[in-house]
Amino acid sequence: MTDAISSNIYHDKTNYGKVFLVGAGPGDPDLMTVKAHRLLGQCDALVYDSLVPNEILQLVDDACELKFVGKRRGHHSFPQAKINSILLKFAQEYKCVVRLKGGDPFIFGRGGEEAEYLARQGVSVEVVPGVTAGIAAPSYIGMPLTHRLCGSSVTFVTGHEEIDKARRTVNWSALAKASHTLVIYMGLHNLGLIVDELISGGIDIDTPTVVIQQATVLGQRYVKIRLGDLVSESRKNKFFSPSIIVIGKIVDFQVKECSPDPANVTMPIKF
Ligand SMILES: C[S@@+](CC[C@H](N)C(=O)[O-])C[C@H]1O[C@@H](n2cnc3c(N)ncnc32)[C@H](O)[C@@H]1O
Repeated sequence: MTDAISSNIYHDKTNYGKVFLVGAGPGDPDLMTVKAHRLLGQCDALVYDSLVPNEILQLVDDACELKFVGKRRGHHSFPQAKINSILLKFAQEYKCVVRLKGGDPFIFGRGGEEAEYLARQGVSVEVVPGVTAGIAAPSYIGMPLTHRLCGSSVTFVTGHEEIDKARRTVNWSALAKASHTLVIYMGLHNLGLIVDELISGGIDIDTPTVVIQQATVLGQRYVKIRLGDLVSESRKNKFFSPSIIVIGKIVDFQVKECSPDPANVTMPIKF
């Protein structure tokens, strides 16, 4: 393969092939970067996650070895250690390996852990950023994430921490006052707890919110509600993963007229 731009190379001292940690974007293939597109056409092996539509996988050459390491419905996630060893093995066998992740590899995608592991093994790694779902989802319904009137700060936060996790790291009560806009990934499962803690932290129960499911692809839908009704309405409307939740006055600044049409492609699984 031709030389890639190497501004963000972590390590480069062996004869192994190179692993590119590539962001596939949120689903609409048109949102992939030119670099991601080019690498998919050139790679010898592709290791990919859930949430990457088939239309994107079809960009690889017939000879490319494909390996799925995402979560299948009803099954546990692939253990991270196993993914790491697959990446290492492929780097020993192939010249150009693409590790494709939904959205951006370094936003709630364990890309940092994989880059660190590979660099420690002496494998050359390069990250190719992607459009993260937290930016794409509001954009695809015409909703800006910042606004001079009400959105001078935005926080991207995961709602995935287990409720009984001994050492929780997200302080929702503090976030209630710390940021004008909250963009929550993987928030549906723990939504009751999140809303309770935000309200106890002082956020107004009438704060506008939106849940956006399957953003940028076929089946994209959303519901706008006040914070106090977020749990009941998202349950009533049967919202499921993948969904992004946005909380903040910015939700009222939606300009529907500028929403792009979602792409006519399907997310591979819903879990
Ligand atoms: C493991 S995280 C990966 C995030 C990804 N690295 C990114 O930058 O978008 C998966 C979560 O991202 C969000 N997500 C990803 N794609 C989405 C989409 N097309 N629509 C809505 N939410 C999405 C959901 O909150 C989902 O549960």
